[in-house]
Formats: sequence, C-alpha cells, structure tokens
Amino acid sequence: MTPHSIDRAARPSVWSGLALLLSTAHAIVMPDGVTGKVPSLGWNSWNAYHCDIDESKFLSAAEVIVSSGLLDAGYNYVNIDDCWSMKDGRVDGHIAVNTTRFPDGIDGLAKKVHDLGLKLGIYSTAGTATCAGYPASLGYEDVDAADFADWGVDYLKYDNCNVPSDWQDEYVACAPDAVQTGPNGTCSTALEPNLAPPGYDWSTSKSAERFNAMRNALAKQSREIVLSLCIWGVADVFSWGNETGISWRMSGDISPEWGSVTHIINMNSFKMNSVGFWGHNDADILEVGNGNLTAAETRTHFALWAAMKSPLLIGTDLAQLSQENIELLKNKHLLAFNQDSVYGQPATPYKWGVNPDWTFNYTNPAEYWAGPSSKGHLVLMMNTLDHTVRKEAKWSEIPGLSAGRYEVRDVWTDKSLGCLSSYKTAVAAHDTAVILVGKKCRNW
Ligand SMILES: *[C@@H]1O[C@H](CO)[C@@H](O)[C@H](O)[C@H]1NC(C)=O
Ligand SMILES: *[C@@H]1O[C@H](CO)[C@@H](O)[C@H](O)[C@H]1NC(C)=O
Ligand SMILES: *[C@@H]1O[C@H](CO)[C@@H](O)[C@H](O)[C@H]1NC(C)=O
Ligand SMILES: *[C@@H]1O[C@H](CO)[C@@H](O)[C@H](O)[C@H]1NC(C)=O
Ligand SMILES: *[C@@H]1O[C@H](CO)[C@@H](O)[C@H](O)[C@H]1NC(C)=O
Repeated sequence: MTPHSIDRAARPSVWSGLALLLSTAHAIVMPDGVTGKVPSLGWNSWNAYHCDIDESKFLSAAEVIVSSGLLDAGYNYVNIDDCWSMKDGRVDGHIAVNTTRFPDGIDGLAKKVHDLGLKLGIYSTAGTATCAGYPASLGYEDVDAADFADWGVDYLKYDNCNVPSDWQDEYVACAPDAVQTGPNGTCSTALEPNLAPPGYDWSTSKSAERFNAMRNALAKQSREIVLSLCIWGVADVFSWGNETGISWRMSGDISPEWGSVTHIINMNSFKMNSVGFWGHNDADILEVGNGNLTAAETRTHFALWAAMKSPLLIGTDLAQLSQENIELLKNKHLLAFNQDSVYGQPATPYKWGVNPDWTFNYTNPAEYWAGPSSKGHLVLMMNTLDHTVRKEAKWSEIPGLSAGRYEVRDVWTDKSLGCLSSYKTAVAAHDTAVILVGKKCRNW
C-alpha cells in the first residue's frame, strides 16, 4: 500500500472496510510515518547521463550532495534510472545487475549511499522491457520488489514503456500532452474517437492494475520502498495515482529548453487539484545546469517546480554545477514552501497574464501564481515574453489576501521589502519574481 494507507492501517481508529486489504501493509510501516508526505528531494541520473551510468557517478553525486550542503537542505535521494541491469534478459528469473557498471552490486552501492546519510532509488517499468530495452517488471512484480528490498533500495521509479497488447487500456484519457486539446486542456471525441466516456472510472483501467501490482508487491516487503509512477500523465493518473504511489509524472519527458519548461507549466497548471499531501504531480527531473537555459529561465524552472509541489530531483553532473545554481537549488524559501508539513496544496494560478484566464497555451501559460504556506503566501510572477515587463502583484487578486499592507520578502535576495500595498517590479524576459507575503502590517 501507499504510505498514507499504511499510516491508516497502523491506526485502528481509522480502519475501514479496506482493513483486510490493508492489513498486509503492516510490515512496511516506517517509524517516521512521514516518508512520502511531501515531495521527494534528491538526484536522478537520467538527464545528466542517460544510459551511461556506473557506480562512480552515483557515489560522486552522493558526495557532492553532502559536501555542497544539498543534503542539509533536504535532498536525500540518489536515484538510479534506466540501464543498470544486464540487457539480455533475466538470470534464474531475476533481473541481474550489470557488474561492470556496479562492481559491488546495487546492495553494495546502497550501503555506501546509506553510509553518507542518503537513500537509494532504482528504476523499472510496468511493461515487458524498460524504455531503453532492459528487463522490466510486468508479471515479475513480487520477485523484483523482493530483490529491491534485499538490496536496500528505498524508492522505485516505475516507467510505462513496452506495454503488451493484452494490457492496453480500453479507452484513451484526455492527456493534453498527446491529444489536441480545447479550453482548459479538455478533449473531445471529435479529436480523439477513443476518448473514455464521461464518468469512466480510470482506477479500474489496465494501467491502474499494472501500477497497483507493483504497489502491492512493494507492500509485502519488510522494507519501505516508495513508488513513483512515471506514467506521463496518461490513463487519468490524476484521479487514482494517490492510492498507488507518492508521485506520478504528469507529462512526457522534459528537455533543457525554455519551450519544454513552459509546456510542462501549462499542462500542470490545469492539474493542480490532484496535488496534496502523500500525492504529487511530478513535473519531471530538473534541468538546472543542463542545456541552454538562461539564468532567468533556470530560476523560473526551479521556482515553478517548487511552487507546483513537484518532486525536485536534480538531473545534472553536480561536480560541474555552478555555485549560483547550487544556491538556487538550496533556496530556503522555495524549499520551505515545497516541503511545508502544514499546507499540502501547491501554488495555483490566480491570473494568466499574456493570455485570458484559463487559456491553454504552451508558450504563454499562466504567469501569476500564489499559494499559502506556514511562512505566508508565496507569490510568483513569471514573464513568458522575450522582453522585460513591469508586473504588479495586487493583494486583492490573490486568494487568501485582501487590500492593505503586508510584510513582503524577496525570495531571491532574502531581503525584506518592508510593508507594501502591492508589489511592482520589472521582470526580465523568462524570469520570475518571487515574494513571500507575510503578516498584515499594523498602524498604516
Ligand atoms: C554492462 O555494462 C557495460 C559497461 O557499460 C556494457 O559495455 C555492457 O554491454 C553491459 N552488459 C550488458 C549485458 O548489458
Ligand atoms: C475553465 O475552468 C475554470 C475553472 O473551473 C472555469 O471558471 C472556466 O469557465 C473554464 N473555462 C472554459 C473556457 O471552459
Ligand atoms: C491523497 O491521499 C491523502 C491520504 O489519504 C490525502 O490526505 C490527500 O488529501 C490526498 N490528496 C489529494 C490531492 O486528494
Ligand atoms: C536552445 O536549444 C533549443 C533546442 O536545442 C533551440 O531551439 C534554441 O534555439 C536554443 N536557444 C538558445 C538561446 O540557444
Ligand atoms: C499562445 O499565446 C500566444 C500569446 O497570446 C499566441 O500568440 C499564440 O498564438 C498562442 N498559441 C497557440 C497555439 O494558440
């Protein structure tokens, strides 16, 4: 079961008719009772290395995470992505580690990573082969989950490639990434004839069954391994993912380009209702440090991912990362918002900006976002245009705030801006102004 179900099963007062089903989950109740409540923070090998991985890359990432202060800031997962096993098939029914790449096995790496105070993630796929063509777990969930547990794995990224024909869904869900969409990211049968009928329960789909099989297999292990669904926003995972894993990818793969960043922000802006404690839309591995994103674009990317309460998995060669980007990843206000243990909701758009409200548009998505937190309201103003624009955050437009003066702090500089009746600033091309709006000021 998912961590939240485990938590429930552990407390008899909230046992329901599901008690019988959940009772198998007892074994994996963790003493902390919190793993998976807020978005995961860590590092993943894919965006930096793709299949070109070996143990030394994970150890060097782990060492920099510790020495650069990223662990102290909360980044505690080191996650192996695709390509860690022998490609040519199972050995005695098990996925076999490629010992050229991992001479001490995954268990050996897990021990070293754990000794540094970090957790280890691994990767598989709910299909007949992984996306890169390695052995995958559909039909082998129990065997693989037991191996991951034996090795000391803490996290499983579970991908969605190579789904055999008898496991295909009956219908297509409205996934804005794949299907041409109308207002608010909606779809119609005119564009997608096999669209699921209104009210169709996607938790009964073959996709849900494939991912739940791994959830159930992990629940049988005597080690807690959180499940992260890499399901690309298909099969309406937004409606059932919360019962299956701690997070689910809401789009196809990110690339280190501005267009990809705005594409994901646009799609996710319409899916914020499915984000809360124990369940998060995964906007994909960070591209901070990669490709040709400018400093402004990189700030926007990180700020929005944090504000949308996406898992924040660093995806670059940390040894090459600039001090500026390390400081960005450690921004204490954005991390505090992302990891808030009192407020589970993400920031949401309160105004679009370039386009009319609720316009579904990949290049110019919603620009004005806000959300409450323990430290006040986080307010973001993104500039999707190619030139500097003066923008104003008006308190009366922001849910939870009202006209008057508030204590305002700049999230980038950590400087107090004093008591303001609104916040006006010039925002450079593709940059984002981010402020924390605290208490109302007295005596004004
Ligand atoms: C194991 O990894 C090595 C080094 O990357 C690679 O050359 C080899 O093809 C891999 N073996 C299999 C069976 O995947
Ligand atoms: C989009 O959704 C919002 C919120 O539910 C609603 O207010 C708005 O009217 C919708 N717009 C269109 C064009 O359907
Ligand atoms: C996900 O499930 C948890 C635990 O049941 C619940 O607290 C949370 O509100 C759910 N998230 C959403 C977005 O419904
Ligand atoms: C960044 O890369 C993308 C794709 O590789 C390209 O389309 C874009 O023009 C590049 N931008 C800059 C500023 O170089
Ligand atoms: C997105 O919005 C911009 C700005 O309004 C507009 O120029 C562009 O045509 C829109 N794109 C699409 C695909 O509608």
